Amino acid sequence: MKDRILSLCERFEPKFIKMRRALHAIPEASFKESKTQAKISSYLRSAGIDHRRTPGSTGVLGFIRGGGTGNVALRSDMDALNIMERTGLPFASHHPGFMHACGHDAHMAIILGAALVLKHVGKDLPGNVRLIFQPAEETSPGGALTMIRAGALRSPRVGAVLGLHVDPVIKVGKVAVNPGFISAAADEFRIAITGKGGHGSSPHKSVDAVMVAADFITSLQTVVSRRVSPMDSVVVSIGRISGGEKSNIIAERVDMEGTVRTKTAEMRRRVPAMITKVLRATCSAYGAKGEFKLVKGYPPAFCDPGLSALVTSACSDILGRSRTTTSPGLEMGGEDFAYYAERVPGVVIFVGVGNGAKGKTHLLHHSRFDIDEGALRVGVAALAYSAYRYLKEGRGKSDDTGR
Ligand code: NI
Repeated sequence: MKDRILSLCERFEPKFIKMRRALHAIPEASFKESKTQAKISSYLRSAGIDHRRTPGSTGVLGFIRGGGTGNVALRSDMDALNIMERTGLPFASHHPGFMHACGHDAHMAIILGAALVLKHVGKDLPGNVRLIFQPAEETSPGGALTMIRAGALRSPRVGAVLGLHVDPVIKVGKVAVNPGFISAAADEFRIAITGKGGHGSSPHKSVDAVMVAADFITSLQTVVSRRVSPMDSVVVSIGRISGGEKSNIIAERVDMEGTVRTKTAEMRRRVPAMITKVLRATCSAYGAKGEFKLVKGYPPAFCDPGLSALVTSACSDILGRSRTTTSPGLEMGGEDFAYYAERVPGVVIFVGVGNGAKGKTHLLHHSRFDIDEGALRVGVAALAYSAYRYLKEGRGKSDDTGR
């Protein structure tokens, strides 16, 4: 089967590249992926793969029936970012201000490619494969929950979910599998500090919200450096601040937005409380008022160790041991793959797309980010063969509860 998958990958490689370029040209915002949805649907239709568009959203669910009873899902995200593309590629974004700068175009092409390959394997596939094309990975609350509600993991019930993310830090030709947490809980917060406005020349008659905010932001740094154990990974960042009207007016109000990244349930609960405490104490010292609002984002994504071992073995088998590594993965990023992996065992395969010699060195979310397209074939082989190996082991049957 390994050689058969490799030769199908070679035969269909021009298609993988064509699909990726076509999808790259039409980047769309989260939950607005309608052209992308139509394109995916048309590729699946021409491959003769059963699928449906998810009602009320821009997702697509596909199904490949093989010759067995186990079920495994392959998941891709679909959305792009609000970035003006500066790659200069002939197939660059046709949508000014939007760009596939997180590689979701490659993710879709790889899952579509794996679908093509597995469809060709047909009855020799020892089970069935569910395809999940999911909108809105980049924007909380994310599209994963809408796909799960639409039945992505049911009827038939899937035993495991495999996803992928491109990684420009990993050289093209290689993949990485990381058992355990691959992303952090990504919660956001909004803060408003209200003082008392006044004339810039009479600060003693006012409460300067800008000064209180400055003091608060400085003290906030001690949450991570002095309150959280160095053994715990936590990030607290203020990403936006605004306040004040004019140079000679003491500002009455300052608004801020920030993000908290944590890896454990305990830290996820405690860190917002620590931030609130610093805010209250700082505000009260100056007679200002502080408001804190937490907006919960994605939970941390966990790669099942047993499934990671199976995927690592499948990847070493089909790509070679030296091409299968581990990496820090998404580090403290957020990833709504977490919602699938909370329900069934899941693994994200990181697919190397970097190539210094070809200038493919820009990081994710950069306006010049691009992949070495040789990675598409590698990703398809890794995903298709991992799915095959999972089903071949007789796993994912509806009576198999996974864990
Ligand atoms: Ni991404």
